[in-house]
Amino acid sequence: MPPDGNRPMSKSRSKYVCRECGYESLKWLGRCPSCGNFNAMEEELVLSEPAEKGRGARYFEASFSSEAVVLTQEPQGPQAQDEKERIVTGMSELDRVFGGGLVPGSVTLLGGDPGIGKSTILLQACQAMAQQGKVLYVSGEESPRQIRLRAQRLGVSDPNLLLLSNTELQAVERAVEKEAPRVVIIDSIQTMFDARLNSLPGTVSQIKECASALISLAKTREITFLFIGHMNKEGSIAGPKMLEHMVDTVLYFEGDKNLAYRIIRASKNRFGSTNEIGIFEMGQAGLREVENPSAALLSGKPHGVSGTCTVCILEGTRPILAEIQALLVESRFGSPRRMSTGVEQNRCAMLLAVMEKHLDLKLGTSDAYFNVVGGLRLNEPSSDLALVLAAASSYFNRPVYDEIVAFGEVGLAGELRSVRGVSERIAEAARLGYTSFLVPHTDRPKAPIKGTTVYAVKNIGEAVEIALQPK
Ligand code: TYD
Ligand code: MG
Repeated sequence: MPPDGNRPMSKSRSKYVCRECGYESLKWLGRCPSCGNFNAMEEELVLSEPAEKGRGARYFEASFSSEAVVLTQEPQGPQAQDEKERIVTGMSELDRVFGGGLVPGSVTLLGGDPGIGKSTILLQACQAMAQQGKVLYVSGEESPRQIRLRAQRLGVSDPNLLLLSNTELQAVERAVEKEAPRVVIIDSIQTMFDARLNSLPGTVSQIKECASALISLAKTREITFLFIGHMNKEGSIAGPKMLEHMVDTVLYFEGDKNLAYRIIRASKNRFGSTNEIGIFEMGQAGLREVENPSAALLSGKPHGVSGTCTVCILEGTRPILAEIQALLVESRFGSPRRMSTGVEQNRCAMLLAVMEKHLDLKLGTSDAYFNVVGGLRLNEPSSDLALVLAAASSYFNRPVYDEIVAFGEVGLAGELRSVRGVSERIAEAARLGYTSFLVPHTDRPKAPIKGTTVYAVKNIGEAVEIALQPK
């Protein structure tokens, strides 16, 4: 039903549209009169002045043309050089996450907890980027003096790096107009505001409007934008989810603030793979790339101690070794505690249940704690076997042999299921001096690898037999 045309037009008003069938109403209704669905009416803003195009429309106009072209035809104009001319950040770990540097005219959103090092890493990247063109750093979080001091400490000094301490959208647009930078950093997108809107900075509509205005600027003028985004309590970037859809690349900076290692991971990338990660270490002079993460993550691993096991995970194309620890102790309370850092708690609970059933262990009265050393977060099922071995090792108080690396997904029947990249994992572990491997029986390497012993096991029972040292 169309809204009543005789009503006096206010500047903007809302209507309610049914999510299921598209029925429109001026009032909110609990049940859609057309299709009968409950709680399906959603508010939508109706703009009464169609003459002034919304920024959203401008954004789409800027990025897309209405001409259809043959897919395989090479693009003409500025987009033609997309792939060739990337802007490098001078940090190979960061460039890898971007897929080999930043694409001119692309927009990236970098999210992460406060104090994790978002401002630091982008300021450090400015040094190399400023050598390739003008860089404008817009900050609404720190004073120019603070940023200058930090830049000095990080050794960032290039006359091509400009600083703007203003978060008003039009001021930024003017500065971009005047200076014509190649890269613009917005620290942070939540502090940006458009004075023409009457809502506070940080609100959904301000973030959305400012982001779409800046994105249209990026697309029309081929300027690379990097937005820093705050995180909300749920661990995603604060503001509308739509923000993540609007930008080309979304990166998350992870890791424990109190630990040295920080990991940058792409959760969306229109110009590269999302599997790659970059590993950094926070030190006196800012973030330092960790070129050999496996060695760094295993550096403090104790020998001959129960409750720890080495795993080899695959992050994108890169194998990384990590140490998994487990501690099983008698519970003092009625319901046992299950805690984990770096691995999903539900996954751990499931593995404990599988162990209880298929190894015939009494875990119902044990508290279980799991930890991945170094602040790494494992979200690959291939770490299951190492979790099981670490837990079994703690339970029986028998250490896992030091030279063993275990990987494989564990199924609910206690069986081991295959994982990808077995030979890459073995090669990386062998490089660091590991000689014995526990792998799922379906993943036995075709040819023997010199200097290594591969145990291909069918289930967790067999794995525990082989991996644990005798008492
Ligand atoms: P920052 O980059 O400001 O974090 P974010 O922008 O993500 O909120 O700073 C991160 C932390 O790193 C800060 O608590 C101080 C610390 N730090 C160092 O340890 N060494 C350094 O050289 C710098 C610049 C910061
Ligand atoms: Mg900051």
